[in-house]
Amino acid sequence: EKISKLAPSILSADFCKLGEQIHELEECDIELLHIDIMDGEFVPSISFGMPVIKSIRKITDMFFDVHLMVNEPVRYVEDFAKCGADLLTVHYEACKDVRATLEKIKEAGMKCSVAISPDTEVSKLEGLLDIVDVVLVMSVYPGFGGQKFIRDSLEKVRKLDNIRKESKFDFLIEIDGGVNIENAKEIAENGVDWIVAGTAVFGGDIKENIRKLKGEF
Ligand code: DX5
Ligand code: ZN
Repeated sequence: EKISKLAPSILSADFCKLGEQIHELEECDIELLHIDIMDGEFVPSISFGMPVIKSIRKITDMFFDVHLMVNEPVRYVEDFAKCGADLLTVHYEACKDVRATLEKIKEAGMKCSVAISPDTEVSKLEGLLDIVDVVLVMSVYPGFGGQKFIRDSLEKVRKLDNIRKESKFDFLIEIDGGVNIENAKEIAENGVDWIVAGTAVFGGDIKENIRKLKGEF
């Protein structure tokens, strides 16, 4: 049986205590760190960029799952590789040539992932599933932490899970947005491998939150 992995999103961290909070995650045996990069164009908000990734790369060996909510991310592939990203996720909606972007990420020595926003159908990913290491299903509209989970995204997860069962593809499925202690169990039961959580991890006592969340899957 598959155990889903929790990927805390540092978007909801206290940036004055970022290093300390990352060490708390490590003490809870968290292996994945979800890092949200927003450009103020593809999404309305701006988060943070390369210097932050570079700094935290020095203090942890965790796997850096970098979610680019950025238009034409192909422009920044090399930069993120240099900062120490392990995986780059690009949005289907943000790239002129998604496949070429994913190929460039692989050439730069990283794992690659494609994300779909709530209005993008799984069928759009046909022709990309052979190259991606991960598919990221957005369960909120990208741009902000703390939004409500969109239930239709579970249907997309099931579709993707069926596709990979019926094909030779072995991509992982990641879900991002609105995950909390109430819905984590159901999400994990639908075939998700990586579960992102921001507010549900960083709001309050981090270790307590992780213990509770992990108890659900
Ligand atoms: C939203 C980001 C998410 C966000 C999740 O645009 O991609 O990763 O940080 O935050 P919560 O878990 O609070 O919905
Ligand atoms: Zn994200």
